[in-house]
Amino acid sequence: MTRIEALGIKVTYGYGRHAVDALKGIDIDFDDVRSLGIAGESGSGKSTLAKVLLGMVTPNEGRVLIDGRPMESLPKKGAGSRSRQVQMVFQDPTSSLNPRTNVGSTIAEAIIVNDIDCDRPKEVRRLLGLVGLDEAFAVRYPYQLSGGQKQRVAIARALACRPSVLVCDEPTSALDVSVQGAMLELLAKVRDEENLALAVITHNLDVVRALCDDVVVLNAGDIVERGSTAAVFDNPQHPYTRTLLDAVPRLRYQPFSAQPRPLPDALLK
Ligand SMILES: Nc1ncnc2c1ncn2[C@@H]1O[C@H](COP(=O)(O)OP(=O)(O)OP(=O)(O)O)[C@@H](O)[C@H]1O
Ligand SMILES: [Mg+2]
Repeated sequence: MTRIEALGIKVTYGYGRHAVDALKGIDIDFDDVRSLGIAGESGSGKSTLAKVLLGMVTPNEGRVLIDGRPMESLPKKGAGSRSRQVQMVFQDPTSSLNPRTNVGSTIAEAIIVNDIDCDRPKEVRRLLGLVGLDEAFAVRYPYQLSGGQKQRVAIARALACRPSVLVCDEPTSALDVSVQGAMLELLAKVRDEENLALAVITHNLDVVRALCDDVVVLNAGDIVERGSTAAVFDNPQHPYTRTLLDAVPRLRYQPFSAQPRPLPDALLK
């Protein structure tokens, strides 16, 4: 298992009066943790942290070590010139797929760019199967897919790079409620079958509960609480964590009225 350490990460966007301290010197050690939840409200710095782990944002201070080696020193391939070991599934699958490339080529490109040694057509079929898509999807284009199917293609493309860590930014928030559960099951399955570590960024604590062994809670660029998911949820120490837990919307059973309501007069005219 790969070890990822983010040490003293500080990120400031902009300068002077307009400077925003998105991360204020945080530490994360991703060792022995199969699945880490990064929770916090909007603007707390979650996506910034994901981008730092991916090498898309260079921190003003601090560094990211992968198996003890600075991220910058790792071999990089392809246009994005990022490390293959950390891959990301973005929040919005529509904008992360190329509309002109079919599903099979999207996955195959990731294999080619990263020089993965394999029987390519066979690997594309395996990955499609792994994410629960039929082989026939290989010739489909993004506009022919549902939101959930696009998300599955994005996951297959990320897995094609043979990462050690998969970072998912709000993996369910762009999806219909009816397929959110299936997406969580799929992520748990690929984590186990591909022997991956999973970092899940979300404001939805139910997602953390479903997928993550450990959790860090971010508030305004600082980690205010960390620990095992069970411990943090059962006995939150920080008032902010309690607020976040209380804010999880829950579906309440609304008794359905058998009495039809009269139509408004305006509709009857
Ligand atoms: N490129 C940027 N330039 C300037 N400020 C930025 C930039 N990206 C993010 N920020 C600011 O940094 C802070 C943290 O942003 P970030 O996107 O990491 O939050 P987040 O926790 O992912 O929020 P959300 O849940 O809404 O996605 C915010 O105040 C945001 O306005
Ligand atoms: Mg974000």
